[in-house]
Amino acid sequence: MKSRLLTRPWLVLAALAIGLAAINLTLAQPQQGPKEGASPRQDPNNPRDGQIVEKRGESSFAPVRVTESFDSIYDKMVKEKDAVMAKQRKLLEERYDISNRPARDGTKFSDRDKPIQEGIRVKLPEGVGSWEELAAMSPDEIRVKDLFPKGFLPLPHVNHPEGGMVFPEMEIKEIKKQEGRDLSRFDLDFDIPEHFLPAFPPPIYLTTRPDLGDVSQGKLVTQQNFFELFDGILTPKQLDGLRLLLTPFPQQQFNATNDRRSKNPSLGVACFDCHANGHTDAAFHLVGDIRPQEFRRRIDTPSLRGVNVQRLFGSQRALRTVEDFTEFEQRAAYFDGDPVIGLKKGINILERGHQVHNMAEFQELLDFPPAPQLDIFGKLIPEQASEAELRGQALFFGKARCGECHPAPHYTDGTMHDLKVARFFEPRMINGRVADREGPIKTFPLRGIKDSPPYLHDGRLLTLEDTIEFFNLIVGTRLTKEEKADLLAFLKTL
Ligand code: HEC
Ligand code: HEC
Repeated sequence: MKSRLLTRPWLVLAALAIGLAAINLTLAQPQQGPKEGASPRQDPNNPRDGQIVEKRGESSFAPVRVTESFDSIYDKMVKEKDAVMAKQRKLLEERYDISNRPARDGTKFSDRDKPIQEGIRVKLPEGVGSWEELAAMSPDEIRVKDLFPKGFLPLPHVNHPEGGMVFPEMEIKEIKKQEGRDLSRFDLDFDIPEHFLPAFPPPIYLTTRPDLGDVSQGKLVTQQNFFELFDGILTPKQLDGLRLLLTPFPQQQFNATNDRRSKNPSLGVACFDCHANGHTDAAFHLVGDIRPQEFRRRIDTPSLRGVNVQRLFGSQRALRTVEDFTEFEQRAAYFDGDPVIGLKKGINILERGHQVHNMAEFQELLDFPPAPQLDIFGKLIPEQASEAELRGQALFFGKARCGECHPAPHYTDGTMHDLKVARFFEPRMINGRVADREGPIKTFPLRGIKDSPPYLHDGRLLTLEDTIEFFNLIVGTRLTKEEKADLLAFLKTL
């Protein structure tokens, strides 16, 4: 039997025409992903669903075989570096006042001479007269009028599509001096100015020896000095754990392959290159467990002080133990959650019962800094507090509602909350980072909080004043200027 198509050639033509039209349509279809700075909301009746970034054929896996030579990658990326840094600088200046303004009341980092920074650094959007005026608007009004301060939006990595670990200059210098290891990248530098970063090197307080105060003796603890500093203070098991926390292991950007971002082949990075002295030096990277790249969050290194009293680890993964997190950092986070590439670059599998346990044991000795004004319930001792601090405490647990998520004595409820920040803005793309809903995030503890700027999981807030304005808006409490000043005085006592 003859095919119907052949007996009716017009059918073939029609089919062809429809086919061509379809191909044409696909080609003419605008890119679905959001454009830089654009607000991609499409369906007004279904404003939140499915409108952002389609899968663009990006695989979950990183390419294993890199055929370009190291020299060629190096030359290209070095040439692009100035433009990368200028773009990030522009973003920071658009969002924040990044000038160096030490706290006039003399507040310093615990046991260090460095003053903390003062003032609200997030810029108010144009056309809004004051923070109080902004907070008087509803989330809808702020979103529709596009008045959410830019500094409250997710902060992208220095080069978001590229990602990877980035260390501040102070850490790079000291590790080079002590160990000859180079933590600088040839393709980019750290972005936030040093006056906003934690005091360096930070003090170390041990839960087992509070009588000793800061046991770091003002030094950055490294492979070179840990034995001398801690022999006779720690048990042999804890000393071994500390040794491993200071031992570099290969990682995505710092390794020996042609697909690295260190100029010379690198031994890798150590846990305490970021968690400097068991605290933080504000090093950052992209979270390992989200795809595609534009949804991955910049994550600011959290302090390990007080991990002994916490029950969830990681801003969103909520791993249950310090042991799990220790094991996962090297096996997964170091390689962006991609064990295939880990195998190529040098994944290091720690032995659980011995090495992981020893490392966790040391971390669990790291205490919050002393807070001499707090009693055994973690509340102010009235005789040792100022009027402003006491008013601030009353606000914290009352009108400002902070205490509902940050209860004393550790100022965390040990769980996660979805702050629904995206109520306040239209989804958008910021330098390669999608800003949209983020879901539940760990309630980080506020004990010792003045010691660990920048704030929030991605470090988007530079000062405590910024966090007060942020939560005033998010919680919808409409605090007065005076109330905010009292709350600040209280946060500094924690
Ligand atoms: C880029 C520098 C960097 C290095 C190196 C690093 N970390 Fe982390 N660490 C982070 C960041 C960033 C987070 C937050 C992760 C998140 O938000 O999901 C974190 C989280 C943690 C946490 C959970 C803290 C909390 O409060 O939830 C622990 C524990 C931890 N790291 C231990 C380690 C250990 C052990 C190593 C070495 C094996 C290590 N880290 C290496 C940056 C680093
Ligand atoms: C609904 C629960 C909730 C309330 C209410 C709340 N917080 Fe938080 N807080 C969180 C969560 C969750 C985070 C982590 C958010 C993130 O990293 O994106 C956080 C983070 C913070 C941080 C930064 C911590 C760090 O290590 O970077 C500060 C400071 C803070 N809150 C202060 C306050 C203050 C002050 C108030 C009251 C004005 C307040 N919070 C009210 C849940 C809450």
